[in-house]
Amino acid sequence: MMSTLPIRHFLQFVDFERAEIEHLFARTRVIKDRFKRYQPYHPLADRTLVMIFEKQSTRTRLSFEAGIHQLGGAGVYLNTRDSQLGRGEPVEDAAQVMSRMCDLVMIRTYEQSIVERFAAHSRVPVINGLTNEYHPCQVLADVYTFIEQRGPIAGRTVAWIGDANNMAYTWIQAAGLLDFRIRISTPPGYRIDPSRVSPRDAAHLECFDDPMLACAGADLVSTDVWTSMGFEDESRDRLTAFADWQVDSDMMRQARPDAVFMHCLPAHRGEEVSAEVMDGPQSVVWDEAENRLHVQKALMEYLLLGTVTDA
Ligand code: CP
Ligand code: NVA
Repeated sequence: MMSTLPIRHFLQFVDFERAEIEHLFARTRVIKDRFKRYQPYHPLADRTLVMIFEKQSTRTRLSFEAGIHQLGGAGVYLNTRDSQLGRGEPVEDAAQVMSRMCDLVMIRTYEQSIVERFAAHSRVPVINGLTNEYHPCQVLADVYTFIEQRGPIAGRTVAWIGDANNMAYTWIQAAGLLDFRIRISTPPGYRIDPSRVSPRDAAHLECFDDPMLACAGADLVSTDVWTSMGFEDESRDRLTAFADWQVDSDMMRQARPDAVFMHCLPAHRGEEVSAEVMDGPQSVVWDEAENRLHVQKALMEYLLLGTVTDA
């Protein structure tokens, strides 16, 4: 069933305006509340989501597959191993074919250029389910989780400790769009590339050599694995380089007393985060993971039905 709306994609956080993100959060609250009360909500009946995975996943697959099902639609899972994508069919050809058979596509892959090429040849909206460059669905869930726990994020301070990876660059985009401060500390040799930061986002970004200083006064401290998928060859060097960038209790003490800790998961206790922080009272990682489901349901509703206000 083709949509009559103009096609929108969610490939980077800044593909949406601030008002659209705020709409998604308002819808997330409604959709989550209905779900918690076991009230069926099937606005996407007969719609099909295709999910293409070129990297592993637990949360992204489950949240999208359960999410489309809960909205009344169906999900189809494809991976590189079992589909023609792994045998070199051009992305442009795959996009032409798949987007004639379904209503929505989610892709987890390597270069951002792959999702961009797919979207350029797709008749239906495309969602970035993680690339080397960005993880917009995760930061959507993270910001929603912060607001749910602590109120508006505008004017607040987020500390990012560790790798300048897909999550870090997505947080930078969110800071510029939603008007909060992002303080990043990475080891030397793994710093943020300023050429990837827009002037608007740069005004919200401060980089620190010392992770303790980055955390000072933060409302939210977040980190991620030291070696992202696709960079496994570097993992030995990274273990050494990142050793002082573990988020532990000392580091959390630099932040505000009511600061929350987030991690997109999967986490490695004893590497990027101590077990004490991960499993401690400031950690909101399980709510953060759950909210992937709710924000993505709002996202799928928006991409296929536009601005729903009445349900
Ligand atoms: N956080 C996240 O995207 O998890 P998965 O890799 O399990 O999908
Ligand atoms: N930065 C990590 C996130 C995994 C959800 C990766 O890209 O592997």
